[in-house]
Amino acid sequence: MNPDIFTKVDEYIGNLLGQEDAVLKETIRSLDQAGMPQISVSANQGKFLQVLLILGNVKTVLELGTLGGYSTIWLARALPEDGKIITLEIDEHHAEVARQNIAKAGLTEKVEVRVGKAMDILSQMQSEGEGPFDMIFVDADKPPYAEYFQHALALSKPGTLIICDNVIRQGKVLDADSGDERVQGVQRLNQLLAETPQVTATILQTIGAKDYDGMAIAVVNRTN
Ligand SMILES: C[S@@+](CC[C@H](N)C(=O)[O-])C[C@H]1O[C@@H](n2cnc3c(N)ncnc32)[C@H](O)[C@@H]1O
Repeated sequence: MNPDIFTKVDEYIGNLLGQEDAVLKETIRSLDQAGMPQISVSANQGKFLQVLLILGNVKTVLELGTLGGYSTIWLARALPEDGKIITLEIDEHHAEVARQNIAKAGLTEKVEVRVGKAMDILSQMQSEGEGPFDMIFVDADKPPYAEYFQHALALSKPGTLIICDNVIRQGKVLDADSGDERVQGVQRLNQLLAETPQVTATILQTIGAKDYDGMAIAVVNRTN
């Protein structure tokens, strides 16, 4: 099958159901203008996250990895009036660009951008008793993904949705001898998902406008 078909079908779906408004388009442009990488979720992935948030009646979101706020804007728009997102970003420049984009989207009230290493902020959040969150979106650096998942679990409650992006890495996840620490990071996460009885999890392969990849989707089980 011609791989172009995946991009064309992604465009087809996007034109029907995942259209970006001026703010989202401007957010993507702002990444180039600020010399930042084009590694946001795709529009259809943003819409997919919105569907899940509405399905799960999500009010509170914790995001790891803000970049320019593109996914943050998709997520925030699916929240109710009193919904709230805390998004963690290590790079002050990225955080500043994101704050500007979030302000242009009129979402400043709903979104708090915290700057620092996700691992440090997560530990601090736990020690200060923050959470639990209804949804946690893990999209920061890949090597510590398993540790991020453990923190996410600690900040969860039954029913919390935990989504980790980029866990297939163009199929490199199949290479048991990979020397790439990002691949090793997602391999450890995927194994941990399989070994964690508190969650019901799967991985959805993603293909289209972005590289072939996958999103791990886990729901914290309700206790009987
Ligand atoms: C893939 S991008 C996030 C994309 C964003 N979620 C979106 O879809 O629009 C990953 C972001 O995580 C940030 N990051 C990398 N390592 C981090 C860390 N240790 N703690 C917090 N953020 C980190 C990077 O600076 C980058 O902005």
